This record gives sequence, C-alpha cells and structure tokens, in this order.
Amino acid sequence: MSSSPLFSNFTLKNLTLKNRLAMAPMTRNFSPNGIPHKDAAKYYQRRALGGIGLVITEGVEISHDSSSGYPNCPNLRTVEARKEWKKIVQAVHDAGSKIFCQLWHVGGIRKLGLPPNPEIPGFTPSGYVNAKKQVAHAMTLDEIHEMIKIYADDSKICEDIGFDGVEIHGAHGYLIDQFFWKDTNKREDQYGGNLLKRAQFACDIVDACQTNTSRDFIVGIRISQWKQQDYDAKIADNIENLSEFLLKLASSNPDFFHCSTRRYWEPEFTSSSLNLAGIAKEVTKIPTITVGSVGLNKDFINLYAGDDEASFSTIEELENRLRNKEFDLVAIGRALLSDPNWANKIQANKENEIQQFNKSYVENYY
Ligand SMILES: Cc1cc2nc3c(=O)[nH]c(=O)nc-3n(C[C@H](O)[C@H](O)[C@H](O)COP(=O)(O)O)c2cc1C
Repeated sequence: MSSSPLFSNFTLKNLTLKNRLAMAPMTRNFSPNGIPHKDAAKYYQRRALGGIGLVITEGVEISHDSSSGYPNCPNLRTVEARKEWKKIVQAVHDAGSKIFCQLWHVGGIRKLGLPPNPEIPGFTPSGYVNAKKQVAHAMTLDEIHEMIKIYADDSKICEDIGFDGVEIHGAHGYLIDQFFWKDTNKREDQYGGNLLKRAQFACDIVDACQTNTSRDFIVGIRISQWKQQDYDAKIADNIENLSEFLLKLASSNPDFFHCSTRRYWEPEFTSSSLNLAGIAKEVTKIPTITVGSVGLNKDFINLYAGDDEASFSTIEELENRLRNKEFDLVAIGRALLSDPNWANKIQANKENEIQQFNKSYVENYY
C-alpha cells in the first residue's frame, strides 16, 4: 500500500472525508429535461467505490430559466430530478464517500432559442459575453437579488436531498466569473467598479447559501483566473490584487475554495512558487482544493481540437506539495472518466494498470 499523503483523512467543518481525493465537476449532457440519467447513481458510485473520498457533481443548473446553456444538463427543478439526485446521493454515501452539488449558471454563454424558454437571453452583469460582444441581457438590480435568492433556495433543496454541501461555480467565464472580470462587468452600482465590488455578487451568494442552510452544511466556491472566452484572461494580475480579492471572498465565509487551473504544478505568479490554491490557502487560511492535469501529461484545452489523448503522468510533485500543505484536497477530472478505479490503483501502487484517457470517455457514459 502507498504511503501517499493523498490517503489521509481531512475534516472540512464537521465533515470528515476519508481521503484528499475529489472527483472534479464534469458536465455530461446525459440528463434530458434536467433529470439525471437513470445510470447516474451507478456512474457516481463507481468513482466512490474506486476510492474517491468526495464527489463533486457535474454542473447543475440553478432554478432560473436563464441558467441553462448546453443540452441535457441536470437541474433540481422537478420532483423527478430531485428523486434521481436522492438516489445518486444515497449511492455515493453507501460507498462511504461524500457528495457536493455544483450549482451553475452559464451567464452570457446562453444563446436565444435554447430550452426551457427559447425567448430568454443570456443573463450577464452588463450585456457582455467577452471584451467585445455586447449581445446579452444586462441584469437589473432586482434580477441580481432574485438570482442570489435562487442560489440560496437551491442550496436548501440540496441539503434536503441529502447532499453534504454545495460548490458555487464561480469559474471559467460563466455568470459569477462574468461579474469578477472587468471586461464583462461594467456596472456602476454596488456589483461593479473595482475588483472588490465585482466580487460582491459572489459574496452575497455564498452568504445567502450559508444563511439558508444548517451550520454543518458545506458551502464552497470554485474560482479560476482563466475563462473559456479567453484562456489568458485574469481576474488579478499580481499577488497583491489576488490576495485582496480572495480576502473579500473569504469575508462571505465559504468553507472551501476550489481553485481551477489547467496545470496544478504551475505557480500563479513568478514572485511565489505557490499555485492558485496555494495562494488562496495562505492568504485566507480557508481549506483549498487544487485541480488541473493531475496524473495526466496534457491539459484539457485540446479536448475538442483533435489532441485529446492523455497518458499517465507521475503524481510525485502533487504529493510533495500536499505534504507541504500547499493545499488540502486534490480534484481529478478526465483521469476519472477513463478509469473510475484511479484512486484505488494509485493507493495500491498499480499506476501501470491505469486506463489512459481519450475523448471517447466523454462521449460515453460509464
Ligand atoms: C468533460 C468535462 C466537463 C467539465 N464540466 C465542468 C463543469 O460542469 N463544471 C466545472 O466547474 N468544470 C468542469 N470541467 C473542468 C473540470 O472540472 C476540471 O477542472 C478540468 O477538467 C481539469 O482537470 P483534469 O485536468 O483533471 O481533467 C469539465 C471538464 C471536462 C473534461
């Protein structure tokens, strides 16, 4: 058996995780009408049985008609959907793991014509989807307040279903990240202006979710510097600005930061060896999750551009950084799609048996 630090337990608020490994949120487009696929419980349970201590679900659209931007993503809006989620939660718990629901609003990525109501446009801070295009709807103050309440209500629904927590998706250029990013947030009220004001929407959401759920329920937030509209874009250009931004988010009391990067081993700035999760932990003292090409020799950027095959890559540096307490938990994405038993194989020192990743594992549902 391995002596890897990945297999020590970790307590997040009052929740004990059996190890440091999380399944990264991964959209699967297998949920027609927002109802998780009938095999979803087995899909998630397979990763839990394969040794993952914490499952973070695929992005789950929050309960507003504008939240959806892609086909067949799940939500929490119907009795049928909630029933399936209950089965999923039970299946993961039965396997001895914990599960968080990722709450997602795509913001301006949504186009007119999409379900559930084709007339609803993309909702954004200022109508911008990227620096150039002003084609979406700029949210009114009332709509912002309504959206914050929906996040809070959906968190409560998640708690009632039996989830151990929620992860607010504040990354990758979707709605919350569109508030963070100066190119898409040109508001002049309390939700726009300097970086701290652009973080207010996220703070109000985290705060509302914490207030609307019980003390033991976990509420965390996922953030990234990169955006799908621009992989070189940044929320903060230097460590001082990033620290101020993180401290502002921390003031809303998130239980964790999930810091999304493409390659976990890359320092966020030249002035420090720490990655984004490392800086977030050092500055805020709040537990962090790192992610990005763990156990793989390529990042996900070319997944749909013909260069999707990735093979196993050593995790020694990851283990060293974890031993140095740079971050607390590690999320695994693609490697878990191709090999649900990835964690057990790592623990048993059977890396050579790990199934290599390619795009077919995204297209099929196992
Ligand atoms: C098929 C696929 C779907 C994804 N869907 C989501 C999602 O719903 N929410 C999210 O925050 N990130 C999503 N991501 C990003 C992953 O959570 C993760 O950050 C990324 O794949 C990097 O980890 P990896 O290198 O281990 O794959 C997705 C990635 C993939 C490959």
